[in-house]
Formats: sequence, structure tokens, C-alpha cells
Amino acid sequence: MIKVENLIKTYKLGKDLFYALDDVSLTVDDGELVAICGTSGAGKSTLLNILGCLDKADSGKYYLDDVDVFSLKDSKTAKLRNKKIGFVLQDFSLINQKKVDFNVMLPMYFDNTPGKQMKIKADKALKAVGLEDQKNKKANQLSGGQRQRVAIARAIVNDPSVVLADEPTGALDSKTSQSIMELFKELNKKGITVIIVTHDKEIASYCNRQIEIKDGKIIFDSKK
Ligand SMILES: Nc1ncnc2c1ncn2[C@@H]1O[C@H](COP(=O)(O)OP(=O)(O)O)[C@@H](O)[C@H]1O
Ligand SMILES: [Mg+2]
Repeated sequence: MIKVENLIKTYKLGKDLFYALDDVSLTVDDGELVAICGTSGAGKSTLLNILGCLDKADSGKYYLDDVDVFSLKDSKTAKLRNKKIGFVLQDFSLINQKKVDFNVMLPMYFDNTPGKQMKIKADKALKAVGLEDQKNKKANQLSGGQRQRVAIARAIVNDPSVVLADEPTGALDSKTSQSIMELFKELNKKGITVIIVTHDKEIASYCNRQIEIKDGKIIFDSKK
């Protein structure tokens, strides 16, 4: 379970403080499929990066499966992130000159997974996204939608309990976007908690729960 309480995140803006997150509290249960929507600059990525343990708030609390995340040392935070969280970004963030399976195995180079195990896990993840027959191609030989599938395979390769996606369809046409959202729905049905940031209401409508952020505050939550 994800639980954040009273998150504040500020950035210095000249002499003033700019509140990117202004007292955000939120609970996401295991197995939810959630959209976080809002216009550009609302604070969506700031929130997602904190949920993904890539960034910390100035104040407030974050409990991930009852672990007090902000109290952890950086090395422990990195371990927790690698074990529990998969990240998907708008621009896919693949190494384009490398093969598809290398890209998917990348997270495992950091945690000493044996080579044979890496291959087995990469095959399984690529199968889950429907790209098992593309693993020997280079990433730059694939279409945008296929590249995003590779990024999703990489995000799930360590069997995370949570997948966080920041505008995952932002670089894709609408038909490809729909198929990517169907894929997230499938992963969610297998039990993964999925949180998707989007400014697109139609994309948000694929999710069971919609949360809207404006000026760093949650102004709507369809669960409430
Ligand atoms: N590193 C930073 N330094 C200063 N301001 C930032 C930084 N990161 C984000 N912001 C500001 O915080 C606000 C929220 O940003 P962000 O979370 O990226 O919004 P969104 O993802 O909803 O478009 C924006 O106004 C942005 O300019
Ligand atoms: Mg953003």
C-alpha cells in the first residue's frame, strides 16, 4: 500500500518559495489502477517522482508497505525502489543502439542477478508485453508503441508491486496510446498497482480511479 501524508515540496523562485506540492495526502491500495491528471505544471511529475522514491518531499510522510520511506538512507531507498517500483516515462528512455533484451535486463545489472536468470526474466517480461519475437532487434528498429512496450517490460522485469508511468502515451498516436493503456490494464489485472500520470482525460478514463491535481493540491478524487 502507498500512503502519503501532508506532502509539501517547494522550489526556490527568486526570493520566494514556489509550492509544487501543497499538502498532498493520498492512499493507494494494492491492486488499484489510478490516473493522476491535471494540466501542465500542476505537480503531477513531482508527486510521481516522490512516490517512485526518486525524490523526497520537504515535509510530510511516505509509507510504502508500511516502510517509512523518507527515513531511509539513500542506499536503502535505492534497494526498495529497485525491488518494488517500476518506472515508465514519456520518452521511453531506452538505449537505442542496444538490443531490446539488453534494455529490458538493464535494472538487473544493478542487483547482481545471475546472467541466466536475467535472460529468463527478460523473456518473461517481453512475453508479457507481446514482444517476445523482437528481443534481438535494436531498440531504434522498433516503432514508438513497441519501444514503450520495451520500457514497460523493463519496468516489470523485477516483478515490482507498483508501476508508475509519467505521461506514457504522450509521444504516441491515439490508437497506439489505447493499446498501451490496454496493456497497463492487463498488468493491473495480474495484481500490479498501476499509477499513470496524464494530462489527457481520455487516457485517464481507462483507469478505475481518477485523481486531479491543480497548483500542487488534490482537487478531485473519484474514490472519495
Ligand atoms: N527542479 C525544479 N526547479 C524549479 N521548479 C520546478 C522544478 N521541478 C518542477 N518545478 C515546478 O513545479 C511545478 C510542477 O512541476 P511538475 O510536477 O513537473 O508538473 P506536471 O508534471 O504536472 O506538469 C511546475 O511549475 C514546475 O515548473
Ligand atoms: Mg510532468
